[in-house]
Amino acid sequence: MAPRASAIPHVIPQPVATPLTRAAIFLVVTINPGTSNRGIIRSLCADLSALVRSVGFREQEGTLSCVVGFGSETWDRLFGKPRPADLHKFREIRAGERHAVSTPGDMLFHIRAQRMDLCFELETQIMARLGPAISPVDEVQGFRYFDSRDLIGFVDGTENPKGQDAVDATLIADEDPMFVAGSYVIIQKYLHDLAGWNMLPTEKQEKIVGRTKLNDVELDDKVKPTYAHNALTKIIKNGKEIKILRDNMAFGHAGQKEFGTYFIGYSRSPRTIEEMLQNMFVGKPPGNYDRLLDFSRAVTGNLFFVPSATFLEDVKAD
Ligand code: HEM
Repeated sequence: MAPRASAIPHVIPQPVATPLTRAAIFLVVTINPGTSNRGIIRSLCADLSALVRSVGFREQEGTLSCVVGFGSETWDRLFGKPRPADLHKFREIRAGERHAVSTPGDMLFHIRAQRMDLCFELETQIMARLGPAISPVDEVQGFRYFDSRDLIGFVDGTENPKGQDAVDATLIADEDPMFVAGSYVIIQKYLHDLAGWNMLPTEKQEKIVGRTKLNDVELDDKVKPTYAHNALTKIIKNGKEIKILRDNMAFGHAGQKEFGTYFIGYSRSPRTIEEMLQNMFVGKPPGNYDRLLDFSRAVTGNLFFVPSATFLEDVKAD
């Protein structure tokens, strides 16, 4: 078995594998042209954990945390060589009516806390530090909906790995020694046709998701279709299931009839999530695609590398 990142001394990961929170902000920004911007961002890298401590200490029950990730092109501009082995731009997928879009984004801030005010305060301070160096391209305030349901009404997150399993699923160990305790993260912002979805009988919805709606029990293999979401996203390699860590959040503007799920998945290699996306959008076998996509449209798509906290703290402003 591959060694665990946590077993490698002196390298501290960013807070990737943290327990789920009630609130989150997903902030994606691009870096503006200009040589001085590099220095502004590098100096925030070194100070980010202190900033989180300052805001978080004001409400310790709030479990404030922040993960920062960097896109493929930005990596070279900010940090040069070496590069994380599997870092590349998010690859779009087109299949029939379905389109996993690839959209601009140089950096992701994934801010989580039990309360939105904490997330908002940290985001405000990050933006004050970055100022004219960046342009926000997407900003979503996500909330945990009742008993961790998404807006399509199903409990979301049940099969996530926990504790050490979550660490093993997300953090790089000896496969990329320069980037131990780093992680890859893929995000997609989905908008739902909730009216269309709610017209489906519950039994049909359950077949699409692969779990019961009210009490969140996995459907028996005898009745679960091969196109069920949890069948297409199950990845088995050499007889072992390869897990990812998701922290999806509901978001929306009911007045504008906007209902969404912000998908965020962390994993040790981007290939796992890419294979899941291939199965969902193209289908396994091709054509046997994820019916959630008949009611959900991805409007963003990005891949970022999340270096360790130790890496960030060692970044020198220049
Ligand atoms: C419209 C967006 C999405 C919605 C509403 C959604 C919802 C759900 C729900 C309700 C479950 C079952 C409960 C659970 O185990 O969490 C689930 C499971 C899962 N989803 Fe999604 N999901 C979405 C997108 C994605 C994407 C884009 C991926 C990966 C590329 C993904 C990967 C997974 C995985 C790995 C599981 C666990 C499967 C298992 O082992 O049982 N999901 N999702």
